[in-house]
Amino acid sequence: LPDVVTTIAELRTRLAGQRVALVPTMGALHAGHLALVDRAVDLATASADGLVVVSIFVNPLQFGPAEDLDRYPRDLDADLAALADRGVGIVFAPSVAEMYPDGKPQVTLRGGAVSELYEGRSRPGHFDGMLTVVAKLLGIVRPAVALFGRKDAQQLFLVQRMVKDLDLAIRIEGVETVREADGLALSSRNRFLTAEERKAAPTLHRALEAASSAGDRGIDAVIAAAQSVLMDEELVKLDYLRVVDPRTFQPVSDDFRGPARVLIAAHLGTTRLIDNDDIYLN
Ligand code: PAJ
Repeated sequence: LPDVVTTIAELRTRLAGQRVALVPTMGALHAGHLALVDRAVDLATASADGLVVVSIFVNPLQFGPAEDLDRYPRDLDADLAALADRGVGIVFAPSVAEMYPDGKPQVTLRGGAVSELYEGRSRPGHFDGMLTVVAKLLGIVRPAVALFGRKDAQQLFLVQRMVKDLDLAIRIEGVETVREADGLALSSRNRFLTAEERKAAPTLHRALEAASSAGDRGIDAVIAAAQSVLMDEELVKLDYLRVVDPRTFQPVSDDFRGPARVLIAAHLGTTRLIDNDDIYLN
């Protein structure tokens, strides 16, 4: 099993002189997280002083008052078992008090305009809280590279912007979304789906595929194709469906051509799922 470190002081001592690849997570690890871990191990083994650190911390700052902070799954033993024999050096699993000794920090980050769109509109303050904890983790670990999943595309974009705007000199690498055989993107929240909802959940991915196929007929056709797939499934209550320019994360204009990204968020019962994919608009 990887070594577990719970304090910032001990972690700093252990990391001195190491070239770290960091995988930030909130635990409840699944094959999606493990794809990030495996990529980090590949990168770390390429250098003699390479070391993989996986952080496990359910960050209260990025959950809204009506969100699922309390029901978010926490099982450190299961997470450590999932990481066994994978080449991970250290699991950093701090308490809330270790990360936020004064309660809410006084100085926090703001994600700006993009953090108020899409996920940010549905989850006010989420991205500010996410960026604040990621900045803390980058400051604590000071990795050479940090890995994030493309599944959370807006999160990955904002982390990349933070690193650029604040000149953090850390490489951010995006890792492809890991899916179940039926297309459902792996997520810690999938466990909350009822059997019926689970059957309906791949609709998000099917809508993305329909959007992709309509790419050569323009933006309106893309939206219509995705919408018609989503409307066919009663259990899926669409939150948003947007096509954005991946370079800016702004909605694309009617005459946009080139690589674009389709974002979907939907409720299935009490569970909220997101997914996205890259398409080509012609
Ligand atoms: P969490 O939801 O635990 O996700 C940790 C990392 O795993 C994120 O970078 C996420 O994009 C990636 N991930 C999740 N599901 C994936 C999948 N199916 N395929 C590929 N990658 C996947 O995202 C967070 O935690 C937090 O916001 C965090 C960045 C840790 C800050 O608190």
